[in-house]
Amino acid sequence: MKYSEYSAVVIGSGAAGLYAALKLSEQINLPEGVLIITKDSLGESNSKYAQGGIVGVLHQNPADNVESHVKDTLKAGAGLSDEETTEFISKSSDEVINDLINCGVNFDKDEAGHLTFTLEAAHSIRRILHSGGDATGKGITESLSKAVRKDKNITVLENAMAVEILVNADKECKGAIIYNELTGEHEIVYTSALIIATGGVGQLYKYTTNPLGATGDGVALAYEAGAIIQDMEFIQFHPTALALSPESKNRFLISEAVRGEGAKLINNNGEEFMSKYSDKRELAPRDVVTRAIFSEMNKNHNSNVFLNASIINPEKLFNRFPTISGRCRENGIDISKKPIPVAPAAHYTMGGIRAEVDGKTSIKGLYAIGEAASTGLHGANRLASNSLLECVVCAYELANYISFSNLETPKMIDEGIIKMIDVYSRSIKGRTYDIPTLKSKLQELMWNNVGIIRTEEGLIKAQKEIERMKNNFKRFRKCLNRDEYEYRNMLTIASLIIESALSRKESRGAHSRADFKQTNDNPMHSNILKTDEKELFYVE
Ligand code: FAD
Ligand code: SIN
Repeated sequence: MKYSEYSAVVIGSGAAGLYAALKLSEQINLPEGVLIITKDSLGESNSKYAQGGIVGVLHQNPADNVESHVKDTLKAGAGLSDEETTEFISKSSDEVINDLINCGVNFDKDEAGHLTFTLEAAHSIRRILHSGGDATGKGITESLSKAVRKDKNITVLENAMAVEILVNADKECKGAIIYNELTGEHEIVYTSALIIATGGVGQLYKYTTNPLGATGDGVALAYEAGAIIQDMEFIQFHPTALALSPESKNRFLISEAVRGEGAKLINNNGEEFMSKYSDKRELAPRDVVTRAIFSEMNKNHNSNVFLNASIINPEKLFNRFPTISGRCRENGIDISKKPIPVAPAAHYTMGGIRAEVDGKTSIKGLYAIGEAASTGLHGANRLASNSLLECVVCAYELANYISFSNLETPKMIDEGIIKMIDVYSRSIKGRTYDIPTLKSKLQELMWNNVGIIRTEEGLIKAQKEIERMKNNFKRFRKCLNRDEYEYRNMLTIASLIIESALSRKESRGAHSRADFKQTNDNPMHSNILKTDEKELFYVE
């Protein structure tokens, strides 16, 4: 098998991966350069579709302060956010976001040239920066991708996916196996710093705001490699995705910022309903709004409710939300006149690979940043626009940490790694699978049984079915193509979500169980570690 060697290898090219590659490339202790590997073209990611914005507690906004941001984050996190981590990330935002601006990212400004800050649900003040109105993710990924392509110390490998993390008997990461979609070949990359920035798991669900690549690959690979995986039961369902028909699965997001600017939710009888569910109404935390909408939909036997944005001044509405108004117009909806059909959709993964703010995981040499990581910032429910902030702060801290590390050459591979490489050098025989159909079945199963409201009965049913699906999919690590690898990873992720959801015998934040009450007390993370005898344990 072909192999190469780099000082650092970043998997994924969303906000976290792109910014990490740039910051790593500035370090002088990486003589063999940085490689960034990505499944599609550079920048294709969840990040690219981010609308609302990025939290910035900036010196340019004297009305804001770290204490207030930390308070809002902890409150949304339902007792499970880590206070120290939250404070660190909030405090770092000024330095890191101003560095992002120096890297070429343009945030929207008023006529006087001052940055403009918007409001989103559960934030007590206006502190969200945005770009291109409602095209923040595009603004960030395009600027960072441009800088990455220009950087001579960074090699870009597109249309290639990481399919295995190589870990030796001492639990040290030595690199990864890559499947190159263009050549159809597997390759090995050796490195002492493997950075997982592969994003979330939205594609596990029938309805999602996430693009097709969000199949949880990095988390599945890290789990198989023996890293601790944390809080996978906490899947955030965004309350308002465009619901044109029950068949439309991959759903365009209608940003929370539209509610931040005054839009109201109405049910199919034209009644505003949020005051029945929260005194914060449309600006209650995301999990609360999602459950309220779900309840209205179920009560009225409808597959959506509506968001009425026509109460916002039309000029402001179109200027502030060009992407949203444009997409709705393409679908025959003038949002200044007609309410927008919306319904919840899987949006964000609070859990992931347990990691510190500088990306360190439970495996030496393996780092995780961005949505694939679980640092404890988001707790049981992420506060809007905190995700992009976490991506860039952790990428920045990772590069700082690595700048002080002594990166040895990763050649020290042992028998276990050689055996693993051997698995990938053998050819595969056997039947072919109808993966699109299998993926759809899995998505339907997860939506119906491991979705917004969960029960023991539904979770057990899903668990049994996933076991059956695993047994029917006879691929032993190596697969034939990208689709098969994604399905393999999705099955692993489904098991992790279900296992954690079954163990959490309470409702907390986004994990809502019909058989247990909502609580904010006795916070504990759920951790899963693959061992010979698989176990699930809780730590504080
Ligand atoms: P991603 O941006 O998802 O990037 C992951 C990358 O990894 C991709 O390039 C993918 O192709 C690649 N990849 C995956 N698997 C593999 C593999 N096996 N091998 C190689 N490459 C792989 N958050 C906010 O803070 N503010 C917002 O306004 C906001 N709006 C959002 C709107 C939408 C529609 C969505 C979906 C999310 C939004 N979020 C928002 C959440 C936020 O965008 C994401 O959490 C964040 O961008 C994740 O960044 P990331 O770099 O960790 O992962
Ligand atoms: C949105 O714009 O509503 C999404 C913001 C986020 O996910 O943080």
